[in-house]
Amino acid sequence: MEYFPLFLNLKNQPCLVVGAGSVAARKIELLHKAGARITVVAVEISADVIGIGDLELHQKPFAAADVDGARLVISATNDRRTNEVVAKAANARGIPVNVVDNPDLCSFIFPAIVDRSPLTIAISSGGVSPVLARLLRAKVETAIPAAYGRLATFAERFRQTVKQHLPDTNRRRIFWESVLQGPIAELVFADRIDEAESRLNESLAADSTQSPRGEVYLIGAGPGDPDLLTFRALRLMQQADVVVYDRLVSAEILEMARRDADKIYVGKQRNNHSLPQEDINALLAQLALQGKRVARLKGGDPFIFGRGGEEIETLMQQGIQFQVVPGITAAAGCASYAGIPLTHRDHAQSCTFVTGHLKDGNINLNWRQLATPNQTIVIYMGLVGLDVICRSLIEHGCPPDHPIAIVQQGTTRHQRVLTGTLSDMPARVEAAEFKAPTLIIVGSVVTLREKLQWFHPAATRDA
Ligand SMILES: C[S@@+](CC[C@H](N)C(=O)[O-])C[C@H]1O[C@@H](n2cnc3c(N)ncnc32)[C@H](O)[C@@H]1O
Repeated sequence: MEYFPLFLNLKNQPCLVVGAGSVAARKIELLHKAGARITVVAVEISADVIGIGDLELHQKPFAAADVDGARLVISATNDRRTNEVVAKAANARGIPVNVVDNPDLCSFIFPAIVDRSPLTIAISSGGVSPVLARLLRAKVETAIPAAYGRLATFAERFRQTVKQHLPDTNRRRIFWESVLQGPIAELVFADRIDEAESRLNESLAADSTQSPRGEVYLIGAGPGDPDLLTFRALRLMQQADVVVYDRLVSAEILEMARRDADKIYVGKQRNNHSLPQEDINALLAQLALQGKRVARLKGGDPFIFGRGGEEIETLMQQGIQFQVVPGITAAAGCASYAGIPLTHRDHAQSCTFVTGHLKDGNINLNWRQLATPNQTIVIYMGLVGLDVICRSLIEHGCPPDHPIAIVQQGTTRHQRVLTGTLSDMPARVEAAEFKAPTLIIVGSVVTLREKLQWFHPAATRDA
């Protein structure tokens, strides 16, 4: 973080602005909104500044002593020398100073502001690209109705009452989330404050007598790229009190969960089950029974080689509420990002997903059926058994030069893709030191990659 964001209380605090042109006027208006006591020092004072009113104006050249006693100093003159002198004088006294359009002389910078007072959103690019910050502000402006400020004021009025009725922090948070996102908020937006108030009181009375109800969200987090999360996944992740996640859930995705949610890792690695499946099932139920909203994040889609069914079976048995959010499965994600369509009019009329998990040195699959032409086979968890896979397909009728691709960490910036044939792939994969998670795609669609590849992550090159 280049700059530390914070919100300063400037009510009745002395602030100095040097310069009194139109740029200075904009800064003065901002300070004015924050209730600051503003002194302006400038040789010439524009009508814009005079029009703001309630300012102490000193029409004179700047002198270092002018900064004495100020909590904040802004220099907005078009004279570089004056700006430097102002910055030096403020710095010498340890007073935060901003020199407009001159980051080198600033000890603080102004963010782009979305003002929904008392709700304030500040956005900064750390001075790197103020235009980008402004564009982002425009997006936020359109996404947040002007009435949000009214909602914040409404919430503030009930803060103490709700605290008294619901002393438990967790329950209070759930209550507020339902108020601020549900019909009560809509009433406030519609300026029907009296109705909103009585609805809130009713909900509060009902909520204080009920024990909290937990819920589990079984969420498919996709193959790795955070942009592939669904809107629903994101919304529920940001509501959850606890996040229970797998090894395949990337750090960037985890970052998108609620910041203060508890994060519990239950990842499984091949031959190294850090938490047995039954224990995971029990953990989810236990957390929900404590009244928590639990986001169970799983790589890809929870119902494709994800044991999601087993997890919700336990919840169902115990009468715990849950929702399932589908995710982009590795086959879809890796194939797209590798430029390999899984079906194609000229190559494959069907596509089969199988697990290549080795059991006692074997993979129990219908090889005869998998070796028939005009289809694509996607093999999950097949890295260790790659040799067996390639051999079995050849033994059951696939030509040794049948195309095969292997995708490591598909959709992420670490993605690597290797293409070859059934006969040469095992040796090539070993030489290229591929590591899990990898996905295998078998079929003539693999040849399309040559012209369709489009994703070129900077971090890696094709092996
Ligand atoms: C236990 S399965 C879980 C599959 C997941 N539920 C899905 O729908 O993608 C784990 C396997 O998925 C595949 N996989 C998941 N994410 C992957 C990725 N980003 N790149 C390559 N393979 C991936 C690998 O074959 C890995 O061994």
